[in-house]
Amino acid sequence: MKLTTQKGMVIWMLGLSGAGKSTLSDLLETQFQTENIFSIQLDGDQLRKGLNKNLGFSMEDRAENIRRAAETAGIMAAKGIVVICSFITPLNVHREIAREILGELYFEVFIDCPLTVCQERDVKGLYKLAGNNTLKNFTGISSAFEKPENPDLVLLTESQTPQQCCDHLYAAVSSRITQLQFS
Ligand code: ADX
Repeated sequence: MKLTTQKGMVIWMLGLSGAGKSTLSDLLETQFQTENIFSIQLDGDQLRKGLNKNLGFSMEDRAENIRRAAETAGIMAAKGIVVICSFITPLNVHREIAREILGELYFEVFIDCPLTVCQERDVKGLYKLAGNNTLKNFTGISSAFEKPENPDLVLLTESQTPQQCCDHLYAAVSSRITQLQFS
């Protein structure tokens, strides 16, 4: 059975650790619940505990992490679920992997926040560890992050509140989700 009152999609949020992906994902899910839109969150910390347990942070492993996440998201979105993905997705080639797998289901959102601000926030204490070289291959410090070339939406989490960002995002995707399906 397919959900008939909503059209599935994958909202792919990418950006540095600490940029605000998880905060926004939580807010957006709450907003969807209020509107009776069925959504599911997927993120790196969660998948890397189970499905992607065998993967580290080399660029090859990150590519495989993204591939598995996109395949999983695609299965759910094809059934009408709105999947909110939060992955650093550091390189353009990684974004291409997700785009290729998901096709028209893919909606790319760049959670844009300066590295210095993410470092100041350092919610998980990982920038500190990366700074003194205890944590290797850390995105933005000792591992590359490329600015996305063609995102569908950019959210500036330094200058806008989480709720303002969530409102922009909801406005950008809601009509696409609630469009009735006839097939
Ligand atoms: S991605 O690069 O493959 O897209 P992903 O989003 O799954 O990364 O995982 C990022 C999360 O892993 C971060 O939020 C952080 O908590 C944790 N992490 C642990 N080590 C690293 C690292 N070397 N680089 C980036 N994130 C790391």
